[in-house]
Amino acid sequence: MNGNRVYVYRAFERFWHWSQSVLILFLAVTGFEIHGAITFFGFHQAVIYHNTAAYALIVLIAFAIFWHLATGEWKQYVPTATHIKAQTNYYIFGIFRNVPHPTKKTALSKLNPLQRLVYFALKVLVIPVIVTSGLLYMLYRYPHRHGIEALNIDTLHTIAIIHTVGAFLLIAFIVAHIYLITTGTTVLSNLKAMLTGYEDAAHMGQHDTSETPSQITDKEVQS
Ligand code: HEM
Repeated sequence: MNGNRVYVYRAFERFWHWSQSVLILFLAVTGFEIHGAITFFGFHQAVIYHNTAAYALIVLIAFAIFWHLATGEWKQYVPTATHIKAQTNYYIFGIFRNVPHPTKKTALSKLNPLQRLVYFALKVLVIPVIVTSGLLYMLYRYPHRHGIEALNIDTLHTIAIIHTVGAFLLIAFIVAHIYLITTGTTVLSNLKAMLTGYEDAAHMGQHDTSETPSQITDKEVQS
């Protein structure tokens, strides 16, 4: 706590979030140039940039995995079914009727149940698929010295499709993410929190978003 603010996003977390965003956007631009959808740097240069950014992303992911394990922050991403219906209803209906958020952020539980589910899927599915297919793409291309034949891959076609599907999923996530960050207490409050680390205490909850209403009532009775 600092005055009426709560420290929610730590320095490494913010660094990881923003550098990951820049790298993924850069990988998307260079990737879709390689794909032939846009022209920006020129194909040859796009390949060089894409590979360099990919290595940087892999290093960042390694540090982020270490940080999540060392701090125990990984627990925030464990999906929960509690309040998931309320949260879904809120995004479909409530948000357009100015209904209050069904769950409130706390320092120990900063993700709502839908965020937990989606971020979990990104971490265990989409990112691993894109990194693995990207590495197979690299190893296949440059060239057979890494013994990729041992994996019985004789065409780039499937790898390219899997990698591109991963890219589309990641971009779909980014579009939804950018819309959803504007749906905080004010349009810019979530963005500000990820820049400064601090969230306005008045808009924070006292309870874990994965707690059931009865667990919350029990705690209120005890305190
Ligand atoms: C560590 C992560 C990644 C690795 C190792 C990687 C690696 C690669 C490689 C080696 C290629 C082929 C380059 C060539 O033709 O020489 C490629 C293509 C591509 N990459 Fe990535 N990439 C990664 C992440 C991403 C991300 C995050 C995106 C988008 C958000 C992306 C989008 C694409 C696209 C669209 C293509 C073109 C696919 C095609 O049409 O063949 N990549 N990537």
